[in-house]
Amino acid sequence: MPTLYVIIASTRPGRVGLPVGQWFYRRAVEHGAFDVEAVDLAEWNLPMMDEPNHPRMRQYEGEHALDWSSKIDAGDAYVLVMPEYNFSYTAPLKNALDYLHQEWQYKPVGLVSYGGLAAGTRAQQAIKPVLLALKMVPLNESVMIPFVSQLRSEDGTEIEPTAQMESMATTLLDELARWALALKPMRETPSV
Ligand SMILES: Cc1cc2nc3c(=O)[nH]c(=O)nc-3n(C[C@H](O)[C@H](O)[C@H](O)COP(=O)(O)O)c2cc1C
Repeated sequence: MPTLYVIIASTRPGRVGLPVGQWFYRRAVEHGAFDVEAVDLAEWNLPMMDEPNHPRMRQYEGEHALDWSSKIDAGDAYVLVMPEYNFSYTAPLKNALDYLHQEWQYKPVGLVSYGGLAAGTRAQQAIKPVLLALKMVPLNESVMIPFVSQLRSEDGTEIEPTAQMESMATTLLDELARWALALKPMRETPSV
């Protein structure tokens, strides 16, 4: 089965991103098409980009960059669980993307965004050119969660998914599985 990484893009204490990511992780496991792993950017705690060489060269010097490269290289598909900050996506997510290049290429990526009324849709639009620059394949289907704070349990550790969220998650995972399969031969073909 292809490996899917569910990347949690909010790193702040008390983030709703953790329960949202945990919900999506469970949904992805239940879906059954992937080996699923959660990748928490708060745990990775990558420093601000500090590599001397362009990531295209894959000549990493820092232990953290080498570890991050090995981790992402092993993925076949990704889901970014991301809040909207000031009409865009989070700085730790941009940093994590910028560290690498070939490791992301020709792999599908689904977006699970959340926020207030706009449900993180502006963050989704803002990140798409970045994903394309890395030759990733961002999917048209996504999960959009409006007013996410209203879905939180009293202790903040869980979220109560809506029927819409469940349905969007299934569609996203179905598409991701198709694209993961379709893009695999492309990654195995040497570039001309
Ligand atoms: C720095 C910052 C900027 C924010 N900007 C937006 C925004 O542009 N649009 C929005 O819908 N919510 C915005 N919010 C509210 C977030 O959607 C809400 O705080 C959410 O819980 C953030 O996700 P997190 O808890 O996983 O970090 C912002 C929150 C923060 C901390």
